[in-house]
Amino acid sequence: MVKFKCLMDIIEARRSIRSYKSQSIEDDKLEYILEAFRKAPSAKNLQPWKLIVVKNKKRINDLAIACNNQTFIAEAPVVIVACAKEDEAYGTMGGYMSSYPVDIAIALEHLILAATEQGLGTCWIGAFKEKLVKDLLNVPENVRVVAITPVGYPAEEGRERGRKPLSEIVCYEEYCE
Ligand SMILES: Cc1cc2nc3c(=O)[nH]c(=O)nc-3n(C[C@H](O)[C@H](O)[C@H](O)COP(=O)(O)O)c2cc1C
Repeated sequence: MVKFKCLMDIIEARRSIRSYKSQSIEDDKLEYILEAFRKAPSAKNLQPWKLIVVKNKKRINDLAIACNNQTFIAEAPVVIVACAKEDEAYGTMGGYMSSYPVDIAIALEHLILAATEQGLGTCWIGAFKEKLVKDLLNVPENVRVVAITPVGYPAEEGRERGRKPLSEIVCYEEYCE
């Protein structure tokens, strides 16, 4: 079991994993990462979400196809599909936008970091055809599919991808270029 001293260790250990062992995930680990999702904050605490946990091999294969044929997804023993109930989200965040993509993103990142802590790999999947995913999983019309992640034991370390330096992304007091 991987041990981490602090949150930053987990943040730094997380990588997008695109190769998985067939080994299944223990039920307690799955429950742990789902709990991490559940505990996330959301606008007005509305929690406008629903997670679909997919373990059926045929469904997972079909999901990989619905994700623009990203075949590595089909290697994972579990795929989690994060959905939003748009009608239940806060509608005018900042005066102009629905909170649901933000709500889901925060909660799914909770799940992803908890998975990293448990030695599990994930990969945020944003490239998918919503209609295909909805048809496959019987998602109602008024529910949006926001993101998908495979979950499983990594069969690769994942590549270290660079990040912009703080000096490029942080301004003080007012917006700067
Ligand atoms: C919104 C979003 C959508 C993404 N969609 C995909 C995807 O469809 N397929 C994929 O392999 N990776 C996808 N990724 C993973 C990114 O490519 C990855 O996070 C980025 O290259 C940084 O690498 P790292 O996660 O290993 O740090 C997505 C990430 C985000 C945040």
